[in-house]
Amino acid sequence: MKLLTTAALLAATASAKSLRVPPILLQEPIPNDPTQHNADHHIPTIRESTIMARRIMHLSSLGTLVTTFTHLSNPQSILTSDNDADEVHTYENRPEEMAGSPIGLMEYYADCEPATGNPTLLAINIATPYRNYAAGSNISLQIRWWPTQSNSYDLSTSAFPNPEMSEYDHNDDEDEDIPTPHTPAALPRFSLHGRLEPIPVKDLAVNLIPACFMRAHPDSLLWQPGNDIHTSEYMRFVVEHIYWFGGFGDRARIGWLPVEDWRSITREEVEAMSLPGEKGWRERGDRESKRVGKGAR
Ligand SMILES: *[C@@H]1O[C@H](CO)[C@@H](O)[C@H](O)[C@H]1NC(C)=O
Repeated sequence: MKLLTTAALLAATASAKSLRVPPILLQEPIPNDPTQHNADHHIPTIRESTIMARRIMHLSSLGTLVTTFTHLSNPQSILTSDNDADEVHTYENRPEEMAGSPIGLMEYYADCEPATGNPTLLAINIATPYRNYAAGSNISLQIRWWPTQSNSYDLSTSAFPNPEMSEYDHNDDEDEDIPTPHTPAALPRFSLHGRLEPIPVKDLAVNLIPACFMRAHPDSLLWQPGNDIHTSEYMRFVVEHIYWFGGFGDRARIGWLPVEDWRSITREEVEAMSLPGEKGWRERGDRESKRVGKGAR
């Protein structure tokens, strides 16, 4: 039974123990006593975690905007044209009991103001998140990192190198002894909490915002401000709080990150950081145990 063999081999590998423990059990707060926490892995510092989050925001361009439906007091107030108002009436049909219920929807963003770390959104004013926000809802933006779209551990290539798969690089220094869990459950994601503000015209020009956004999202040409279908506007998501879920709790930080760090991260720091799945990424503990293992060979 191939699966059983695999499980037995994994169980025999010290660093694989996190694979056997459901991630939820590893989400304990990081202990103050360093002897108590898993010595196999370097847990990124707060600053390192914040740089990782800024790098994810820089490399990705899709997030989930979360808002809550408010009570239907004055739903028309932000609709600027009769066209928009008619459209919302015709298609929405929102059940009344949805007031207070959160809704998360995929949204494009771009990292166009790296000096402050505030992501840029192109808000279509009849879109649900912006209508909810205008009606008084709070707002958050969830972003995640998923470099290779895999839902399973690739045991064949990294744990059990197959000589026939010559396209894989079997350089010992690059390969990992066990498959690093790069499935979505193990990968970083975070939630930005804050407020929206329209980006003033002078900042649009100085930071070349439309060009930056279009580079990330060429199809947004269709709903750039001034289009004749919908009213749209560049918005700045002003980040005030950051909740970071770095991955499995024995090797990643999970918790709130300081906004002062978020705002002060430099472009150089973002460029020098690497993320799980990127070249250069190595959990420090893996690297150290590998070095020890090599010496013993
Ligand atoms: C928005 O969040 C704040 C806490 O940050 C809370 O005090 C306030 O009641 C929330 N507003 C709504 C409309 O839920």
